[in-house]
Amino acid sequence: MTDLTQWLQQQAVTPALQQLILALAEAGKDIAALIAQGGLQGVTEKSSTINVQGETQMQVDIQSHALAMDHITESQVVAGVVSEEAEQAIWLATADAPYLVCMDPLDGSSNLAINGVVGSIFSILPAQAMQEDTAFLQPGAQQIAAAYVMYGPATLLVLTVGRGSHVFTLDPALRKFQLTAADLSIAPDTSEFAINASNQRYWQPAVQRYVAECVAGLAGPRGRDFNMRWCASMVMDVHRILSRGGVFLYPRDHKQPAKAGRLRLLYEANPMSLLVTQAGGASITGETDVLALVPTHIHQRVPVMLGAKQEIDLIAHYHQQSQA
Ligand code: AHG
Ligand code: MN
Ligand code: MN
Repeated sequence: MTDLTQWLQQQAVTPALQQLILALAEAGKDIAALIAQGGLQGVTEKSSTINVQGETQMQVDIQSHALAMDHITESQVVAGVVSEEAEQAIWLATADAPYLVCMDPLDGSSNLAINGVVGSIFSILPAQAMQEDTAFLQPGAQQIAAAYVMYGPATLLVLTVGRGSHVFTLDPALRKFQLTAADLSIAPDTSEFAINASNQRYWQPAVQRYVAECVAGLAGPRGRDFNMRWCASMVMDVHRILSRGGVFLYPRDHKQPAKAGRLRLLYEANPMSLLVTQAGGASITGETDVLALVPTHIHQRVPVMLGAKQEIDLIAHYHQQSQA
């Protein structure tokens, strides 16, 4: 077995990047231990605070943020952090350090109330000369690495350093992440899609068309039956796609016209898009590649459609047609 430390040593990555990834992995272990406490430690309780997204935070969102910040700070290789749980960018004392981190310390935390699967999402960018928000506004294609930690029946770290996407499984006895699946590959086509269908009336025509054709099944234009899954936990939905294929759609809708989409570019769409494209998949907003977007705001939301390459190409084609 190859553990994460050994694997990183075999990669052409700097010692500083190795240190940072190991720090994020340690944060993942701590957060896994925290949420495993469940109702014993109030993990399922809501707090009375509202985060920058206008959503009610859970204590555990705030605690996960604090645990991740501790490990990131200790690593000494990070200049600044953007977190879903902090309105402002956080600048660390190690101002000359080489990396920036964008993170969703606990994604899908509302699932904890039903003992459902949640995760942490991390994106690593190169630091810039300036210590202001604009330093983080780099296209996702510039990410040096991206990862999520999935707190499911097993705790997994799924990682890319720009050469494939790989799965490490936490051995709880050894407290080590062991490589269990290398070079994930998403099949180009699929018969499985994931979307929150309760928003259907708000979708744009291209998404209406794609989903209607899937639902029409064997008798419809696709000529085959499709299956639908929705976990309301992006980490779990993306992990399914990386494991057995499919597409995930959180499209723009006009439910809340002020919001371009539900998911956040810097710490949800970008890292997941890098992991998916490194496994041969694709990721678009509808019109453009997610990874090509130049962010305008650290907490910017975007539409995201990712997964099987041929299906995403078809969805992109439907968007082009509906614009023409
Ligand atoms: P968060 O818990 O950070 O607010 O994000 C949850 C996200 C994502 O994990 C999931 O795909 C989506 O929200 C679920 O949205 P719906 O509530 O519309 O199902
Ligand atoms: Mn989230
Ligand atoms: Mn979150």
